[in-house]
This record gives sequence, C-alpha cells and structure tokens, in this order.
Amino acid sequence: MDTWHSTGGYNVLFRTDCVPYMYSRLMYTNGGGHFDLVYADMLYDDFDFDRWLPLCRELLADTGSIFVQTDYRSVAELKLYLDNLFGKKNFVNWIVWPYDWGGRPKNAFGRKHDDILWYAKTSDYVFYPEHVQIPKKTTGSVLNPSGRDTKTPTDVWTDVGNFHTMSSERVSGTKWQKPERLVRRIVEAVTERGGTILDPFVGSGTTVAVSMKTGRKSVGCEIDKDIFKNAKERLKELDNELYKQF
Ligand SMILES: C[S@@+](CC[C@H](N)C(=O)[O-])C[C@H]1O[C@@H](n2cnc3c(N)ncnc32)[C@H](O)[C@@H]1O
Repeated sequence: MDTWHSTGGYNVLFRTDCVPYMYSRLMYTNGGGHFDLVYADMLYDDFDFDRWLPLCRELLADTGSIFVQTDYRSVAELKLYLDNLFGKKNFVNWIVWPYDWGGRPKNAFGRKHDDILWYAKTSDYVFYPEHVQIPKKTTGSVLNPSGRDTKTPTDVWTDVGNFHTMSSERVSGTKWQKPERLVRRIVEAVTERGGTILDPFVGSGTTVAVSMKTGRKSVGCEIDKDIFKNAKERLKELDNELYKQF
C-alpha cells in the first residue's frame, strides 16, 4: 500500500479502499472507537452506505461526530440511513453549503448547494462553538445591545464560499476539491488541538491539509492512484512549508 505521512507522523495518507483500512483499524484497536471526527465527502451518487457507514460509526469515540457531505442526488436516502444507524436522537444538524459557480440549467433553478449531515455517536458529543465564531454585523456605529461582536454560525453556511479558479489552493486533477475554509469549520467545531480525524474519501487531501494547519492528527484514504499522487504532492509541499523553520 502506498502511504505518506507528515513530519512527526501525525497525519497519514493511505492509497487504499477505505473499507479494508477501517476493518484493519478496528482489529488493531480491538474494536475500540478512537476518532473525534469522521468527515466523509462521499461520491454523491453512491448508495452503498452499508459498506462503509457502520464502520465509520464503530470507529468514532463516544464523544465523536460524523459529518457526511452529499447533495440532492442522495441526501434523502442518506438521511434515512443515518437516522437508522445513529438513532434520530443523535442527529445534530443538516448543514447547507451554498455556492454559485458552474452553468445553470434552462429548465430548472440551478442546483447550487451541498448538504452536510451531522450525527453524534452519543449524547455526550462535544461541540466547540467558541472555535468557529463569525463577525456579528451591526449597522453603522450603533452599539450591539448584547455587547458581543461575534456569533455562532447557523446551519446555512453562506459565508464560507469557495476558492476562485486561479487560487493557489486549487489542486490540479481533482474535480471535487472542497475549500479549506469549509472543512476547517467542521474540524474546529468538534475537535481541539491534538484531536483525531478520519477522512475515508480524502480526494485532494483537504482534510489532512486542514489537520496539519490546525494541529490535529488525521488519516485520509484515497482509492484512486492519480488523485492520491496529487494529494501527496500537495501535502508534501505543505509539510515543507510548515516545517521549514525547524
Ligand atoms: C467527493 S471526493 C472527495 C473530495 C475531497 N473532500 C477534497 O476536498 O478533495 C471523493 C473521493 O473518494 C474517493 N473514493 C471513492 N470510493 C472510495 C473508497 N472506497 N475508498 C477510498 N476512497 C474512495 C474518490 O476517488 C474521490 O477522490
């Protein structure tokens, strides 16, 4: 198996199908749950949830959370599946990430948002709203009556946006790359520094990049050889930048 890890070994990339990786991790840890966060940005027309979602749940710590990202193609089926797997009482949020790029159909409104379903493993899950505050806008010089100048975002993340096509963040050869800003909000909402993250569908390596930049520990799996290669290059470059001062 082709692998890469960051300096210090806290962030690891595996070129593999995530399913055998998750089975072997469960065997190795004797069925123990470890990850604080699973972020799964799945292929949106893949309905084979039974293959990987129960394993993700098993691998979560009792205080941990899963965020599964998709869109109109499979969100209805995914919601019902997750309600059943995690229990409706552990559903936390249905987050909408709107964007506005790409073409528009002539016969319908443009389909311009992703859906991110957040479930907790148990009612003891952690949430750090103080990590993800956004500015509270006030009009003119009127003082904010609450005395606060920040607020916790709602479940519609209009403020996140995306990187532009010429951005240095863009990794060539991947069509599904998510902005670091989006993944960072998820990571910081439910983990602290040193927290652990699993991304079973790591693609261009966004989750691992965010983990490295924010001092978390992560594992990312990518099945495709060329996508893995590009992710590895991206992360190697980031690792050099982060550690060049040492
Ligand atoms: C929607 S993309 C993820 C994009 C990623 N969040 C990013 O920011 O680049 C899904 C990725 O999962 C990979 N994939 C699909 N099935 C997989 C599996 N069983 N195990 C590991 N990776 C898989 C695909 O090759 C694809 O790169």
